[in-house]
Amino acid sequence: MSKIRLGDEAPNFTAVSTEGEINFHDWLGDGWGILFSHPADYTPVCTTELGTVAKYKAEFGKRNVKVVALSVDGLTSHKGWIKDINETQNTIVNFPIIADEDRKVAQLYDMIHPNADSKLTVRSVFVIGDDKKVKLTITYPASTGRNFDELLRVIDSLQLTSDYKVATPANWKHGEDCVISPSISNEQIPELFPKGSKEIKPYLRLTPQPNL
Ligand code: BEZ
Repeated sequence: MSKIRLGDEAPNFTAVSTEGEINFHDWLGDGWGILFSHPADYTPVCTTELGTVAKYKAEFGKRNVKVVALSVDGLTSHKGWIKDINETQNTIVNFPIIADEDRKVAQLYDMIHPNADSKLTVRSVFVIGDDKKVKLTITYPASTGRNFDELLRVIDSLQLTSDYKVATPANWKHGEDCVISPSISNEQIPELFPKGSKEIKPYLRLTPQPNL
C-alpha cells in the first residue's frame, strides 16, 4: 500500500460488485470516474449517501462520470441493504457497490485509517480523469456524510481547467468568472479569452467562464 497522490495513475484492480466483476480501468473506459468508500452497510449516514448518489446519477452522467462505491462488507449484505436504500431514500441504486471483503482495494487505495477505525474504511473519495490519473482525493470521517453538490462543483472545475488555461476561485460555481492562469501573458489574453478580461492585480486577472 502506498499513498495515492494527485497526478498518479489510479491503481487498477478487479473486484466483485453488485453489478458483477469489475476491472476498474476497463470499467472506467474513456470517461471519468469516482471511487468512494463508506464504512459499513446498514448504517444511517451511508444509507443517505448512497441514496443521494443514485439520485445524482444523471448529473454525473452529463459530465461523463461513472460512480462506484465500496465497503468491506460482502455481496449478500450489499444486496439486502440496497433494498433498504431504495425503500427509505425513494430511489433505485443504479451504480455498482464493490464488496471488498478481503480489503484488497481498501488497502490499495489507503482507505483504512487505523487511528480512526482499525477495520472499516473511512469516507474516501477519488476522482479519476479520462486519462486514468487521480484528479482529487478527499477524506471524511465516518461521522460526516459527504456533500455531493461539492463533488459536482469540483468536477466542473476539474474538467474546465483541463480544457482551458484557467483556474477557478474560491467558492466558484459553474457559470461564474474564472481566473486566468498565471502562465498566460497579457498579450495572449485576447486570443485565448475573446469574451474579455479584467485585471484586478497583475497576478489576478478574471475572465468569463470560457466554455459557455
Ligand atoms: C453511518 O454511516 O451512519 C456511520 C457508519 C459508521 C460509523 C458512524 C456512522
